[in-house]
Amino acid sequence: MINLENKKVIITGAAAGIGRATAVKCVEHGADVLVIDINENGLVKLQKELGEDKVKIFNFDISDLGKIKDFFVQLRKDDIKIDCLVNNAGIYLGKSVLDYSDEDIAKVMAINLIAPIYFSKEFARDKMNGKKQGVIVNIASVSGEAGTSESVYGATKGGLLGLTKSNAIDFSPYVRVNAVAPSVTKTALVKNIPEERLKMHEKHNLIKEWIEPEDIGNAVLFLLSDVSGHCTGMTLDVNNGRYLR
Ligand SMILES: NC(=O)c1ccc[n+]([C@@H]2O[C@H](COP(=O)([O-])OP(=O)(O)OC[C@H]3O[C@@H](n4cnc5c(N)ncnc54)[C@H](O)[C@@H]3O)[C@@H](O)[C@H]2O)c1
Repeated sequence: MINLENKKVIITGAAAGIGRATAVKCVEHGADVLVIDINENGLVKLQKELGEDKVKIFNFDISDLGKIKDFFVQLRKDDIKIDCLVNNAGIYLGKSVLDYSDEDIAKVMAINLIAPIYFSKEFARDKMNGKKQGVIVNIASVSGEAGTSESVYGATKGGLLGLTKSNAIDFSPYVRVNAVAPSVTKTALVKNIPEERLKMHEKHNLIKEWIEPEDIGNAVLFLLSDVSGHCTGMTLDVNNGRYLR
């Protein structure tokens, strides 16, 4: 039975898609959520839906590392103890690396990989200093396992899988660290996936129904809760059988 009563969960990129669905699931299972996004309207809408007592909103760009540090400084100042972190925010530009500008490379790396490194270390520092248990879930992608036509995105997602394993070692025995690797999931991000890639996914999927954001939310919920208490350093594939390891 999944129970997140009295747990506080940070979720990045929670104004839409998988992050939003995860926030809703966490609150449904008793947690309070601290949601971060650049989309303020989406955050406010989520807070109205779930209640101000359950949802605290933080409107900033996670590619700004100073903002991440300020966020943790403020939490410490306010003596807010966090139990779980979901590194979810990510962007996918849907074009070949040959068409990436220098700024594109820096932006995708900053949001998809460097921000999770900073969030993870700031979160884990407090857990380890206080000798308290915590959980991190990283939203990677099948692209990090099987490759993709967008190599910078694929590199960040492969990097997240490496980060998951290495942080599981570094933060043991206090913080469990796991990843979810979704395949194509019905969110706004999909509009950037080239048509031929979508067709290829459809052809190879063993399960034909679309993966919904809530399906990924369920996988995250499992990894956040004590039900997965013996799992760390692992990747949970939610990919319609698209890629078998
Ligand atoms: N949808 C898919 O098919 C799919 C597949 C595999 C992995 N993923 C991963 O799942 C995660 C969530 O993606 P999604 O499909 O829900 O996308 P989405 O575009 O629906 O939602 C992403 C959210 O992140 C926020 N965000 C983007 N840049 C930000 C920044 N700099 N600072 C703060 N917030 C920012 C956006 O405003 C948005 O609310 C991503 O890491 C993505 O790579 C998605």
